[in-house]
Amino acid sequence: MSDKQAKRERFEHVFSTIVDELLTYMKDNSMPDDAIAWFKRNLDYNTPGGKLNRGLSVVDTVDLLLCTDESGKRTRELSDDEYFKAAVLGWCIELLQAYFLVADDMMDASITRRGHACWYRVQNVGNIAINDAFMLEGAIYFLLKKHFRGERYYVDLLELFHDTTFQTELGQLVDLITAPEDSVDLSKFSLDKHHLIVVYKTAFYSFYLPVALAMRMCGVDDENLYKRALDILLPLGEYFQIQDDYLDCYGTPQVIGKIGTDILDNKCSWNINVALENATPEQRQVLDQNYGRKDSACEQRVKEIFNASNIDLKKRFEQYEQDSYHRIHSLINEIPETQGLKRSVFVSFFDKVYKRSK
Ligand code: IPE
Ligand code: IPE
Ligand code: MN
Ligand code: MN
Repeated sequence: MSDKQAKRERFEHVFSTIVDELLTYMKDNSMPDDAIAWFKRNLDYNTPGGKLNRGLSVVDTVDLLLCTDESGKRTRELSDDEYFKAAVLGWCIELLQAYFLVADDMMDASITRRGHACWYRVQNVGNIAINDAFMLEGAIYFLLKKHFRGERYYVDLLELFHDTTFQTELGQLVDLITAPEDSVDLSKFSLDKHHLIVVYKTAFYSFYLPVALAMRMCGVDDENLYKRALDILLPLGEYFQIQDDYLDCYGTPQVIGKIGTDILDNKCSWNINVALENATPEQRQVLDQNYGRKDSACEQRVKEIFNASNIDLKKRFEQYEQDSYHRIHSLINEIPETQGLKRSVFVSFFDKVYKRSK
């Protein structure tokens, strides 16, 4: 078994523990068996099964901060209790991710997620998925209270979850109102608008949150270090969402586990913004007439413009990815190494996503 696989399995093992804790709570509150079984299915269907980048990054960051020295040499292993706590925080972010994705798939009218039907499209689920999403979020605060109530950094954890949740919701709001279903107006799009959307909807909860939670757990108190971490993690999160936008159109559905809907949904994605910047007036007209229509022939016409030789999104994305490698590594190299902020934390996170195909 590879090292990576072993890490994933150890982390997944903790998931079964927290599911038991949540179900025990329901039993203790005399919830009926069918409700307990429903929640279990919701948790199992929506929480594991992704790449687990966010959750594993909490564990990896705690490990790097507590168990390596300045030269990167390993000095010790995490104790079982330290590992367990880091993994619980990791699963709390994966629960937040599950909560956002269940809701996001309803709002974006998506079909599949992680290779299966989106939860709201599963037989007999439908709009109950709305409450299921709320319960996935509720589980986070149950677990934080259960495992961290007595820690001096408990309130910092709560604040991080609350703040990044709200930031994500602001991002989702701008994403959604910039993509009205029945009035396509491409002049409202810009790469600046895109930057705002992706930093809020993705970067805070997907990149800053895992590292900041780990830093809190490791006792890092210097607020400046959180600011320095943000300076790298927001650009990293923007890069990740641009990959997601690109893969929406150019990824292999069987590999990414979802079917792209950005063109049909009139989304202000990286692809359309780069196309708009480079389109001839004739191509612009085709985009105006075909983008954001719930029609696969229109979607196909948009894709043809994306592939036209003067636009060539595939080539432009490869260039962007290359440039991002250098840009992000220089940002990482600018940070001063201290006990609470190690370059290896950001390198390890970047390595999880660089040149990803899923
Ligand atoms: C999908 O995130 C939603 C975005 C913020 C782009 P991931 O691509 O990390 O999804 P999973 O959790 O691995 O399925
Ligand atoms: C979703 O962005 C971000 C959140 C879930 C908060 P997308 O809408 O691009 O994510 P996918 O492509 O459906 O995974
Ligand atoms: Mn979506
Ligand atoms: Mn997407």
